[in-house]
Amino acid sequence: MNFQLTDEQEMIRKMVRDFAKNEVEPTAAERDEEERFDRAIFDQMGELGLTGIPWPEEYGGIGADYVSYVIAVEELSRVCASTGVTLSAHLSLAGWPIYTFGTEEQKQQFLRPMAEGKKMGAYGLTEPGSGSDAANMKTTAKRDGDDYILDGSKIFITNGGEADIYVVFAMTDSDKKHKGCTAFIVEKGMEGFSMGKKEKKLGIRSSPTLEIIFDGVRVPSANRLGEEGDGFKIAMMTLDGGRNGIAAQAVGIAQGALDASVNYAKERKQFGKPIGAQQGIGFKIAEMATKVEASRLLTYQAAWKESEGLSYGKESAMSKLFAGDSAMEVTIEAVQVFGGYGYTKDYPVERYMRDAKITQIYEGTNEIQRLVIAKMLLKD
Ligand code: CAA
Repeated sequence: MNFQLTDEQEMIRKMVRDFAKNEVEPTAAERDEEERFDRAIFDQMGELGLTGIPWPEEYGGIGADYVSYVIAVEELSRVCASTGVTLSAHLSLAGWPIYTFGTEEQKQQFLRPMAEGKKMGAYGLTEPGSGSDAANMKTTAKRDGDDYILDGSKIFITNGGEADIYVVFAMTDSDKKHKGCTAFIVEKGMEGFSMGKKEKKLGIRSSPTLEIIFDGVRVPSANRLGEEGDGFKIAMMTLDGGRNGIAAQAVGIAQGALDASVNYAKERKQFGKPIGAQQGIGFKIAEMATKVEASRLLTYQAAWKESEGLSYGKESAMSKLFAGDSAMEVTIEAVQVFGGYGYTKDYPVERYMRDAKITQIYEGTNEIQRLVIAKMLLKD
């Protein structure tokens, strides 16, 4: 067993860390305060090759592995969780299903510009009435000649409004329940495709979260991903990898909060010595660091399995569950280490605490992760 990163993975970590420090961190607090998405950051990620990390060069990517991908999301989230999820949703929720299930034409038409950072991706599964119960969706896609007509709406869409390419799920045959669900690639600008309400959120406030609306959107069958009826499996398999991206986001948030806490505990003096030298704070920091490290190991393991072509659904649910819960615990403790200052916007730890919460909710709540893990362990 070898826990050492490869030269390529180390190089990607260094590149993303430098980029995050120089280009993302300086405006992170301001973008959070203003709920402002900055497309220029996405464009810069495209120039660095981050928007196509795991895809082969023939599709505009840089041909790195999934460990490199989670390292990139972690390093971005260490300074700005909104930027971390922008990349994670673009790559694993939109790029992955096109790469895995798309035809050669679809990969050249949609995946290539996404990998090159010229277009941004998003994923539409959740509806007002179907969150955890994803199979209960109401959006329909009715066949009309060589096209499908989409009607309905999707909510809580990460990258919504900003994205150019949306992988969406709709019922082609509602009687068949989840077996009647089909996946489509919908492009911004298609007639009848519009953006609804923008959410005002507790955290990841510089990542846009929107409702998307389909009002008789005519989608050519060339934009259907997979066969009719494959949609639910495509949605679930996409989330298997997406969940590990969220685990990586959680690791980055928790690491950022830990870094800030360690620095503060060394500088801040009370009762004549640094607060880190008081056992109450020292023990907190030790526990925080242990949770971060355990979360990272689970996340890298799931990514490594995916890169090796091994099954990774259970590991990905475990990494998301553990890293998400840990990020919440670690960031709450970080605010505690900072005391009254931690409760103010003078330090980043309150932002980390607000951002951590979503990692326990999206891409399947952590209750759903427990359900997924239990199902896999107890089947047959
Ligand atoms: N891979 C392949 N197939 C899978 C699968 C997987 N991971 N999970 C389920 N399936 C298949 C099953 O094998 C089954 O197939 P058959 O009918 O052929 O036997 C079929 O799908 C139905 O499976 P279930 O009976 O287990 O389905 P269910 O209706 O009970 O739901 C669930 C299972 C795990 C609860 C699922 O609905 C789920 O994951 N819910 C959470 C949804 C979710 O994560 N939403 C996140 C939205 S996206 C988001 O948050 C993005 C963002 O903003 C960043």
